[in-house]
Amino acid sequence: MHLLTSGPSFALLLALHTHAQDRTTEAGEAAIDAPTLECAPYSYPPVVAALASFPPIWTPVTSVPANDTEGRAKFLAMNASIPNITPKGTMAGDFSSFTPTYSTTDPDCWWTFHQCVTPKFKGLNADIANVPEPRTLGYGFDDGPNCSHNAFYDYLTAQQQKATMFFIGSNVLDWPLEAQRAVADGHQICAHTWSHRYMTAFPNEGAFGELWYSMQAIKLVTGVTPTCWRPPFGDVDDRIRYIASQLGLETIIWQFNSNDWEVGLNGVTTDQVQANYDALVANASAGMFNSAGAIMLTHELNNYTMQTAMDNYPRLAAAFDHLVPIAVAQNKTQPYVETNYTMPDFAACACPSP
Ligand SMILES: *[C@@H]1O[C@H](CO)[C@@H](O)[C@H](O)[C@H]1NC(C)=O
Ligand SMILES: *[C@@H]1O[C@H](CO)[C@@H](O)[C@H](O)[C@H]1NC(C)=O
Ligand SMILES: *[C@@H]1O[C@H](CO)[C@@H](O)[C@H](O)[C@H]1NC(C)=O
Ligand SMILES: *[C@@H]1O[C@H](CO)[C@@H](O)[C@H](O)[C@H]1NC(C)=O
Ligand SMILES: *[C@@H]1O[C@H](CO)[C@@H](O)[C@H](O)[C@H]1NC(C)=O
Ligand SMILES: *[C@@H]1O[C@H](CO)[C@@H](O)[C@H](O)[C@H]1NC(C)=O
Ligand SMILES: *[C@@H]1O[C@H](CO)[C@@H](O)[C@H](O)[C@H]1NC(C)=O
Ligand SMILES: [Zn+2]
Repeated sequence: MHLLTSGPSFALLLALHTHAQDRTTEAGEAAIDAPTLECAPYSYPPVVAALASFPPIWTPVTSVPANDTEGRAKFLAMNASIPNITPKGTMAGDFSSFTPTYSTTDPDCWWTFHQCVTPKFKGLNADIANVPEPRTLGYGFDDGPNCSHNAFYDYLTAQQQKATMFFIGSNVLDWPLEAQRAVADGHQICAHTWSHRYMTAFPNEGAFGELWYSMQAIKLVTGVTPTCWRPPFGDVDDRIRYIASQLGLETIIWQFNSNDWEVGLNGVTTDQVQANYDALVANASAGMFNSAGAIMLTHELNNYTMQTAMDNYPRLAAAFDHLVPIAVAQNKTQPYVETNYTMPDFAACACPSP
């Protein structure tokens, strides 16, 4: 240590590091290939300047204050028409005192109860749980941007593979250059709330804020406003769907679950996750998606989930005819509010079709 901190070798190392790392631009950050360096915090001036306009990072949203004039006006405009459904359980997902009181007819189309995706409240669209194009996987990842995602994004780029990234607002403000990389690489971005809690537990204003501030964070950092979101843990009901739809967000869920996020928790093992990937591949090979494609829940959460996605990529690409971002499988060529960002439609997609 002493040798390094005094003398010429330290100066040289410092110089090399300073040149190797540019942590002020998307391209500079994307060029870092050591996970521990990628995950060392940095400061990004546009985020620092805007922090007072956001709730505290990783804290569940409780209010949309009056000085957020746009957000407040949007909330008040929808407030009176939000379905009259009582919040459920806790933000940590404890529904043990709520579920026994809930009607078995599932009046709120609460996904967590029996995976309902067809709303009962009039005027709401069904959740997107699969993709319309046959033999196609709507390819996507939740919980990013992860600070150490460069190896994973490099891999996707090398395969010319694009995906749908469901970003957490708090992660976007923590890792703005990583969020920018997703847009630069041509991935689709959807929102995944501000603080990643169980949404059906929030009162109306907090639920609105969880969606609104995640959209605002993505817009601030990447320049685009998403038109889709995915509920953390799938926890959505007609009240939350209504608030999302009023914000212009389509609700995207899944039919297949890799359970990759849960490894090391609740006794879930890597073998079980591999079996889930294997079952999807077997289903595809058995022709189960010959009339409509699939969506599987997978994550940009940590080294394991990203590595497992890479390890399984060749088999998924062989089992399906197409792996595409969900917007591409929907022919949704303008995936954002800003109309100058486009994605190819399904026919035009130069997506790999092995
Ligand atoms: C808006 O008001 C809240 C308190 O209600 C305050 O914490 C926040 O800093 C204010 N934001 C701005 C941009 O002034
Ligand atoms: C929102 O609407 C409810 C009832 O529809 C009302 O009780 C409440 O005061 C409203 N909230 C605001 C902030 O106006
Ligand atoms: C399809 O996947 C399910 C698990 O999601 C599995 O139980 C089933 O055996 C699979 N079917 C085929 C034909 O592979
Ligand atoms: C990203 O992945 C790394 C490596 O597994 C992990 O240490 C980190 O906590 C993850 N989370 C975020 C938010 O980047
Ligand atoms: C996982 O971590 C190892 C060791 O730091 C690294 O070499 C590898 O690139 C990482 N993989 C992914 C997908 O991030
Ligand atoms: C997408 O557009 C193509 C024509 O370009 C069409 O064949 C296909 O059915 C469309 N798919 C959807 C889901 O709209
Ligand atoms: C879209 O328009 C905005 C605002 O004019 C601009 O800042 C942005 O660079 C444009 N993006 C693309 C991809 O053209
Ligand atoms: Zn998530």
